[in-house]
Amino acid sequence: MKTVALHNLKGGVGKTAAAVNLAYLAAANDVPTLLWDLDPQGASSWYFHGQPQHEKTKNVLHGATPVSRLVTPSPYANLSLIPADFSYRYLDVMLRKVEPPRQALRRLLKPFAGDYALAILDCPPSLSHLADNVFAAADLVLAPVVPTWLSLRALEQVEDYLRDAGFDPSRLRPFYSMADRRRQLHRELIERRPQAMARGLHAVIPYASMVERMGERRAPMAAFAPSDDPALLAYAELWLELKAMLKL
Ligand SMILES: Nc1ncnc2c1ncn2[C@@H]1O[C@H](COP(=O)(O)OP(=O)(O)O)[C@@H](O)[C@H]1O
Ligand SMILES: [Mg+2]
Repeated sequence: MKTVALHNLKGGVGKTAAAVNLAYLAAANDVPTLLWDLDPQGASSWYFHGQPQHEKTKNVLHGATPVSRLVTPSPYANLSLIPADFSYRYLDVMLRKVEPPRQALRRLLKPFAGDYALAILDCPPSLSHLADNVFAAADLVLAPVVPTWLSLRALEQVEDYLRDAGFDPSRLRPFYSMADRRRQLHRELIERRPQAMARGLHAVIPYASMVERMGERRAPMAAFAPSDDPALLAYAELWLELKAMLKL
């Protein structure tokens, strides 16, 4: 089983939109997929109509409750969820108490290797103990980056953090998200990619009202958007790049 995290220091950059669309596309392409919503806001759980199981997060972290009890079905074949639990707002503190440090999430994902080929982690915006666990568990960390200097700076901060914490920064793979080609700066940063995007994926997710409409439909884009919709095609390209990188 391969593990991919959608992570960024910044919020509102398209992590959840990418997690939801990638999870759907993977599952629709016959890759048994588990989406774990680690953000207490529970946005990806909401898109997939997932309700958290009534298990104490603390008991799961300490092994008293099997992690498999957290899994719920999604409305789609091949796709299961671990919905966010409101107690995840304390996940950082709870993870600090689990030994060995940083390895809890990796250990919790292990039992799923028999049933799933791909785990997708939808992360809250942070650089913290939870992020350490995510970096230790993920084969790839996908970071949506809005084409602005401030977002690129946040990306560099994540990369510095990874390096300082002893992780391999080459597993951090950014991609442009919410790109608005009507804006000159966006166009420039997409065409002449700065150094921070050197390891970036090719897919560029456009700023598009069709993505926002996922909220109205409570569904991934592929479930309602026309098959030639540019944003859907961009997610499909992102999925194909991910599939190739992970040899799925
Ligand atoms: N490509 C996009 N174009 C337009 N709106 C987007 C796009 N991606 C996300 N959004 C919207 O922006 C908001 C934040 O997106 P979300 O994926 O939840 O970000 P994050 O998970 O990084 O906080 C949501 O309302 C979502 O509908
Ligand atoms: Mg989110």
